[in-house]
Amino acid sequence: MSERILVCVAWPYANGNLHLGHVAGSLLPPDIFARYHRLRGHDVLMVSGSDTHGTPITVKAEKEGVTPREIVDRYHTADLHALKGLGIAFDLYTETDTENHWCITQDMFLGLLHNGYLYKDTMISLYCHSCRRFLADRYVEGTCPHCGYTEARGDQCDECGRTLDATELISPRCKTCGGTPEPRETEHFFLDLAKLNAPLLEWLNTDKEHWRRNVMNFARNMLESGDLRGRPITRDIAWGIPVPLEGYDDKRIYVWFDAVIGYLSATVEWANLVGRPEAWREWWQDESVRHYYFMGKDNIVFHTVIWPGMLYGYGGLNLPYDVPANEYLRVQGRQLSKSRNWMIDLPDFLERYDPDALRYILSINMPERSDSDFTWEEFVRRNNDELVATYGNLANRVLTFAARHFEGRVPEPGDLDDEDRAMLSRTETAFATVAEDLEACHFRSAIAEAMEVAREANRYLDAKAPWFQIKQDRQAAATSLYTMIQVISSLKTLLCPFLPFSSQALHEMLGFQHDLLGRQYIEELPEETRSHLGLRYEAPVGEDRWQSVTVPAGQAFGPIRPLFRKLEEAVAAEEVERMLARSG
Ligand code: MF3
Ligand code: ZN
Repeated sequence: MSERILVCVAWPYANGNLHLGHVAGSLLPPDIFARYHRLRGHDVLMVSGSDTHGTPITVKAEKEGVTPREIVDRYHTADLHALKGLGIAFDLYTETDTENHWCITQDMFLGLLHNGYLYKDTMISLYCHSCRRFLADRYVEGTCPHCGYTEARGDQCDECGRTLDATELISPRCKTCGGTPEPRETEHFFLDLAKLNAPLLEWLNTDKEHWRRNVMNFARNMLESGDLRGRPITRDIAWGIPVPLEGYDDKRIYVWFDAVIGYLSATVEWANLVGRPEAWREWWQDESVRHYYFMGKDNIVFHTVIWPGMLYGYGGLNLPYDVPANEYLRVQGRQLSKSRNWMIDLPDFLERYDPDALRYILSINMPERSDSDFTWEEFVRRNNDELVATYGNLANRVLTFAARHFEGRVPEPGDLDDEDRAMLSRTETAFATVAEDLEACHFRSAIAEAMEVAREANRYLDAKAPWFQIKQDRQAAATSLYTMIQVISSLKTLLCPFLPFSSQALHEMLGFQHDLLGRQYIEELPEETRSHLGLRYEAPVGEDRWQSVTVPAGQAFGPIRPLFRKLEEAVAAEEVERMLARSG
């Protein structure tokens, strides 16, 4: 039976280029997951977009002397391009500054208010006298009360990763003028988390055995302490979604409150785009649909407590099924840092290297259970030793040899012997093990198992040595090659969620013409939506393609070329040099 799965991807701020932290933390895992389920013939909807509101955008805009909208336009466009280059196949990648998203956010606000989950209260916020304004979130900097980092932002410390309230900062200073802000009262709307605590805890304690331990521990700690306090969901700023009530013209809805609603509003936007405006209900109001949320660990609180609380309070919408948050990716042993310019830009990376090479290293080394480290040395080594030598060369050797000796076609096999059968059944078992891992969001072990098949195939090929067989027994060579062709064809499917470009290329070399997975395309969205471009995806539903498909004897190969590029050893040192130069 075809299952329905909503794949929700954390919305990147449109205030800078995507980098490898985004890829490893929140972009690649859902893409692998969604591609696997699409291959299974499940009905998948994968949505996200640019997070366009709040101080992350305005601080950047003011720094450059442009409007927030200009910042959003620039990075939304750049992000779409990079996402397409990396093959992150969304059904819709929109943004939060759209008519649709504004309406749905305001409706959610009013619904929560009506149901008694929002209240008004005064709070203390930092006010800068010389700038004559409240300093929301990123407009204030100071010393982190947890780790002592002196450049912590008012919303979060980049050093220890903790979320902060600006009033907690030690020696706060105004980011604009450098002055010392003073605490002052201001009125805001609060999400009543105290009231939501008990129902959220009950939800958390029901059928969550599949959750990752770190995510579960985090949510439990918060909800079991039993003293959740209300959180302000409005801010004293001018950029964002207006409060849909009289008398709040100088306040806006907090960016985090609106961003998480994006999962719902993007589904509605998608439903409108496909011409079935009510179709969003099939995704949000049918309890059998499973919702998966992918993100980095700094987003856990918003997806395990706040957003479920909003959904519960609003009523009638599905709560998350799983929140497989990742840990952090370090680079060359150091934590990624935007302020220190210690990062690897995705657009920059894709200018010099292939998307599958990046997808490979970040899959096999995904920060799943603990932080992991990207090093250029390891990237080059694993690209050359594993992607090129173990998998790419295997496919290339088999195809070129078979093509040369059997008129460019899949050879007609004789009777299979025990080794042939053992190799085929070994490959067959991988479909079950990789599937089990992928369904549990264990990406590292899933790709490791697929690569293990490639290793065993190399051993099989070396033992059979068709290049010797061909001299004495052409039929035996044909049988070995035929067996290997079936194996590499299965490898292309097993690796397709991780390495979609090379899988499609191999698929065509094997003589197939159609898309292995489905059709991905970009299209202009209608003017009224105020979105620019969305990435759309179409895969056949109801057809299970997660299995070996016989490549028939006699099928003509397509043009054969190497699947991957070998990298020069010197590349690693050059790249490290570049990074050091940029970070100063
Ligand atoms: N823009 C936020 C970040 O980069 C993530 C938002 S996730 C969402 O940390 F669900 F709120 F959209
Ligand atoms: Zn100031």
